[in-house]
Amino acid sequence: MILISLVYDASLLLTDIPYFRPVETIISSSIEKAKSLLEQGQLVAIPTETVYGLAANALDRTAVIEIFNAKQRPSFDPLIVHIGNKSDVSLYARHIPANAQKLMDAFWPGPLTVVLPKQEIIPYEVTSDLATVGIRMPNHPFTLQLLQQLNFPLAAPSANPFGYISPTTPQHVFDQLQSKIPMILDGGSCEVGVESTIIGFEGELPVVYRLGGLTLEDIRNICGEIKVEINSSSDPKAPGMLKSHYAPQKPLHLLNNTNSDFQSDNSTAIIVFGDYNAKGNEQVFNLSINANYKEAAANLFSFLRMLDADSSVNQIYAFLLPEVDLGLAINDRLKRAAFKG
Ligand code: TXA
Ligand code: MG
Repeated sequence: MILISLVYDASLLLTDIPYFRPVETIISSSIEKAKSLLEQGQLVAIPTETVYGLAANALDRTAVIEIFNAKQRPSFDPLIVHIGNKSDVSLYARHIPANAQKLMDAFWPGPLTVVLPKQEIIPYEVTSDLATVGIRMPNHPFTLQLLQQLNFPLAAPSANPFGYISPTTPQHVFDQLQSKIPMILDGGSCEVGVESTIIGFEGELPVVYRLGGLTLEDIRNICGEIKVEINSSSDPKAPGMLKSHYAPQKPLHLLNNTNSDFQSDNSTAIIVFGDYNAKGNEQVFNLSINANYKEAAANLFSFLRMLDADSSVNQIYAFLLPEVDLGLAINDRLKRAAFKG
């Protein structure tokens, strides 16, 4: 019985990983230890301002393939390359449009990933055979120090099993990847709480592929006209933008002002934003009582994980936020988490 429930609970089955050998996972704030493991080609979970990443030497194909194995990530979904100095971007990108440079100058280090034509040194294992590479300089003091001490960049997707909610604390990473990776670099809770905004370029025109911690308003302030092309298909050629993503295991239903009918008993958890009067006995989880978008983004993934693990909750409802500021990125995550493909 215990065995069955263990297997049922595991979002990642160990036996599915080729050549899997359990390792002891340490949670530590030693940058030196993280550096030494990464130099040996091993995986380390690293803190960033957005979410925790699962990092390896981006220039080492074998190490990069280990990331895909540990996450059970399909090989068509490319990884983001993390750098510790703005000027390093030209080591890994062949061409930098003026608008890309302006955005990097304005927002790096920060929650911005730019997609640019790759230099040869970046292996195709990182980019899933694409000729472009996503690059970002994250804004976390430990990870910046680590990157500045390494003589290679770090490929890092979010440190969660593929399709599940991204981790925003070391414990979130440990809960799902313990015994699969040797170390989690403990940098506390992530301040932003949703992943980076991903921007490619058509000539000079910025094209937003993924909504994230950098708002559209911020991007328009720097570049003027932009295109937003959020792909919501389940087409593998549209990497990472799968409709069903960030998903808890319990049913999640979305509500808005015109459709706010739900079962209001105490087995229901409801996620709200700002003023809210309970309708019945539902358990209320307020992303931000003061309707602050930053606070709401920082709480979102923790709330979803907590509710998924809470045995008193059978179903989760969530109100969509106003479609401005970080409300856009939060709604995008909620919609993908609720999507039943
Ligand atoms: O905030 C973040 O971006 C976090 C932290 C760890 O940096 N990382 C993250 O990685 O969210 P991940 O693997 O969960 O999402 C990476 C996504 C891919 O799914 C894909 O959509 C996009 O980045 N991407 C990467 N390289 C790309 C490329 N060359 N062209 C288009 N999209 C790309
Ligand atoms: Mg991810």
